Parts: sequence; C-alpha cells; structure tokens
Amino acid sequence: MFKTIDDLIADRHGVAGKPVLVREDLNVPMHEGRVSDDTRLRAAMPTLAELADHGAKVLVLAHFGRPKGKVDPEFTLRPIAEALGEVMGRHVGFLASPDRHAIDVLEPGSITVLENSRFYPGEEKNDPVLARQMASLGDFYVNDAFSAAHRAHVTTEGLAHLLPAFAGRAMEAELKALEAALGKPEHPVAAVVGGAKVSTKLDVLTHLVGKVDHLIIGGGMANTFLAARGVDVGKSLCEHDLADTANAILEAADKANCTVHLPYDVVVAKEFGANVPCHTANVHEVAADEMILDVGASAVEALSDVLKTCRTLVWNGPLGAFEYPPFDTATVALARTAAALTREGTLVSVAGGGDTVAALNHAGVADDFSFVSTAGGAFLEWMEGKVLPGVKALEG
Ligand code: 3PG
Repeated sequence: MFKTIDDLIADRHGVAGKPVLVREDLNVPMHEGRVSDDTRLRAAMPTLAELADHGAKVLVLAHFGRPKGKVDPEFTLRPIAEALGEVMGRHVGFLASPDRHAIDVLEPGSITVLENSRFYPGEEKNDPVLARQMASLGDFYVNDAFSAAHRAHVTTEGLAHLLPAFAGRAMEAELKALEAALGKPEHPVAAVVGGAKVSTKLDVLTHLVGKVDHLIIGGGMANTFLAARGVDVGKSLCEHDLADTANAILEAADKANCTVHLPYDVVVAKEFGANVPCHTANVHEVAADEMILDVGASAVEALSDVLKTCRTLVWNGPLGAFEYPPFDTATVALARTAAALTREGTLVSVAGGGDTVAALNHAGVADDFSFVSTAGGAFLEWMEGKVLPGVKALEG
C-alpha cells in the first residue's frame, strides 16, 4: 500500500508553508515552441492545485526530452511551466537553479517548476549525492508521474527513500485503475493487444496469456501469428523469424485456458496509404501482392460479442493501420463497443500507450473508457507484469 495526499494533508504538522517536491510528467509534445497536447499538464493539475490550496510551496520536478545530463536550452522546462500556468489559470513560477534560499522566499500556496531534472548528470544514474541535494530542497516528496515510474531515477525513485513519500492524485487514480484491470480484476477479462510488431510486445503477450481469459491480437502483430499457423499473409508486415515464439505463446495460452482471437477476415490492399483501393478477404485468400491493413467486419462483430461476455478489458495498440482511413474501421468499431459496454456498466475498460490513446481519441470514445492512461513505456512495462521502481519505492 502507498500513502496518498490525504495522508500528507492529514499529517499533524500539515503542509502549510512547507516546500513539497512533486514529481510530475511534463514530457509533453511540442510544436514550434508551443505545447501541442496538454493532456499531461491537465493530469498534473489536481495534485498541484490541492497542495497549493493547502498552503504548500509546491516545487514541481520533471524531465523534458533526453538532454543526457547536460544543460541544453532546447530542453528547458521554462515554456512548459508557462503552459502549465495557462492550463491551471494561476501563476506558475520557474526556477532555473533552485537552492534552499530561493525556496525559503517563495510564498506559501505558490507553484514553481524546477528546471529539467535531466540537466543533472546524476538524475538518470539515481546518484545518491544528487538525491540528497534535491531532498534538502523539500520536506515531503509526492510522486504523481506514473508514466515515468518505470525509470529508477533520482526524481522518480531515489527521493522516495529520503523524504516522507506520497502518491499524487494522478498516480493514485492510475494505480487504482490498473489494479482493477489486471491486479484483481473481475473475470472474464479480455485484453486487446495491437500494434505493428510482436517483437516489441513479446513480454506483454507472455504475461497476459496467464492472466486473461481472452487475448485479442490485432495490427501487424496478428500477421505474425497467422503466418506461424501456416497462413500465407502475402506482403503484409510480418516477423516470420518469430514463428516459433508465436507458436509457443499460442501453446501457453492453450494451457492457461486463454482463448486467443486472431482475425479470420481482413481488409487488404496492394499499397499502403489513405483511401487506397482495398477489399475484405478471408485470411486464407490474401494474394501474394496484397497486405493486411485491418481486421474485417465479421471478425470485429465476433470480437464485439466476446467483449459483451467480459467484465474487464485492457487495451493496448490499434487493430489496424488506423492513421490511414478506412483502415481505422475495426479499431473505431471495437472501441465504440467497449465504450458502450462501459457506459452501460457491464465492463471496466482500461487503455494505455501512445498510439492507443490517439486511436481512442480518434474514435471519440476516450472519455467513455473507465480509465485511459497517459503512460507509454510505463503502461507497457506494467502490462508485462513488471514492478515499476517508482511505484515500488512509494510502497516503502
Ligand atoms: C514518457 O514520455 O513516456 C515518459 O515521460 C518517460 O520518458 P523517457 O522515455 O524519456 O524516460
């Protein structure tokens, strides 16, 4: 178990006037010097506002990009601090070289972003000297950055051992949702795993077959499984060298009573792009010069029926080449079914991963899922069954 902000606020000494170090994930996409997607800034808001409203001097720790331990103006957090202020509708300060004196003169109830933690060479090495220096800046440590919790860095892990440590609101929500989805889920559980390559999700698939009742495989990954079963996938994206691995996963699934769903009809085209000529074919009828770009309508209908029997869904990765219409059709249709079942209250649906969030936004259903994680790499590592160092450190 981990402590939350409720415990911090209930602390007999309180947070009023005290410096609180809060790790957020402000690693946001930028375009021409401006934040192009503020999802992570909005996720940070509740924790920062709550602590500031209780009179804390909120000191935001975060990284941006991969400056590799060097001060690099390209990766300064200054514009992101400004954007955070705009999103929050309140002043957010910025400290390029924080020290205890600069922090002593901050107002209670203020929010200040400290410069990119990855400008320090010790950050990614989890250097104890840097950890002690940073810990001396605050009285408490709050980790609100699940999406960076797969990194054992000073600001994501080391500080939790040096200061009283708490989970922020976004971290708390994320951990609760993930626990409900794969920790102690209501069965039957379905997992949708899509995306281009099996090789990037081998550990995810291996872990899931022992956990879920239905494993729905889509995207380019499904081609590798189909080919391993002897299907000719034409010139589809396919990792033929992983045939043995794919078969081993299918065997493990069989032993664990996990039903693996591969598409039996597919949408094929001779070239890759938006609105190129395409048609639906049985998987056994893919021509040598065709490639599979989406799951077919009959298979999607069958998958929707599977979801109707399930109580829990975990989703990572699109079912087809969703960035090029009409190859977004299967992903949109199944996502809408999941959203409808969630609205009706029969399904707990949790999704995560960069492409997945984009796909659910594209389908217009992200708000209808029970929980959509802002994490990319951390979500995948969690789906692999790994213990994330930033989460473990909070558990004490
Ligand atoms: C992310 O964007 O997924 C997190 O902020 C982690 O970033 P990193 O992959 O550079 O550690």
